Amino acid sequence: MNQDVLSKIVENNKGLISQGAVATYIPELAKVSKDYLGAVIAFPDGTMLSAGDTKVRFAIESISKTVVLALALLDNGEEEVFKHVHKEPSGDAFNSIKKLETEPDHLPRNPFINAGAIMTASLIKGKDPEDKFNRILEFMKKISEDDSLELATDIYLSEKATGDTNRGLAYYMKGQGVLSGNVEDILDVYFKQCSIYVTTESLAKIARFFANGGVLSTGERVIPKKYAQIVSGLIATCGMYDQSGEYLDNIGIPGKSGVGGGIISPVSSKKIGVAVFGPALDAEGNSVAGMGIMKDISKEMELDMF
Ligand code: DON
Repeated sequence: MNQDVLSKIVENNKGLISQGAVATYIPELAKVSKDYLGAVIAFPDGTMLSAGDTKVRFAIESISKTVVLALALLDNGEEEVFKHVHKEPSGDAFNSIKKLETEPDHLPRNPFINAGAIMTASLIKGKDPEDKFNRILEFMKKISEDDSLELATDIYLSEKATGDTNRGLAYYMKGQGVLSGNVEDILDVYFKQCSIYVTTESLAKIARFFANGGVLSTGERVIPKKYAQIVSGLIATCGMYDQSGEYLDNIGIPGKSGVGGGIISPVSSKKIGVAVFGPALDAEGNSVAGMGIMKDISKEMELDMF
């Protein structure tokens, strides 16, 4: 892989943008241009290859769920976290309530669907919601090696104002006695974690962090290797929601998407992190051109795990 090849890959996938649309259920996200497209590959020595719109800031959305899972594991340990959330793909849409009702224990199927992420957000330690969010933001800055990350207040307020499906999921879990704490406080942390501004570069470094077993490019270990393996494993099985199987089959590396248009792929075998940004999404909420780029990068660099 070199700069020219990566630039060509981004260029070649621009045609797919017309097959998707920006997310509109969060009004502030509807204002983003659907034409952005970018890709970054972060290598273990700290170097990166970037092509396209890689410095544009956008909301991390569901990709934050990987970071919050890692912090919840640090705060509580593996055994405690997985008393509250399962590790299985749901096969349903990311905001579905279906299995919360039909599963006998009413626990979310995994930490990456909205119900599961609200659960893991509730496990973050801190004296109040602000403290909990600040701990998430500081942790995300550390593992992305990017101090410029910050809350996108307009997006946060937009999520909070329109997040009734998430409220439904959280109150249902509280009603079943599986979610503890003040629901509005937990949702506040969740809405804020989704509304952190990132760039494709910061996301690629987060992916590299997980691919390197929880170690930064400086060599500093931040989380135990086991926790990074749990996050990467769940990204592979549950990261693209009801498209997770197809993504793994088609592209051959783990992928975690967000409705802001980002996708991260931690590639443990090569210790590299790949991230793409393309806000035009398909019906499942995954970046259409972003997945096209991931497929081409995987092919070009022979990343397929199988
Ligand atoms: O809660 C939500 O619906 C959004 N904040 C995040 C959803 C999301 O990113 C799903 N990803 N593809």
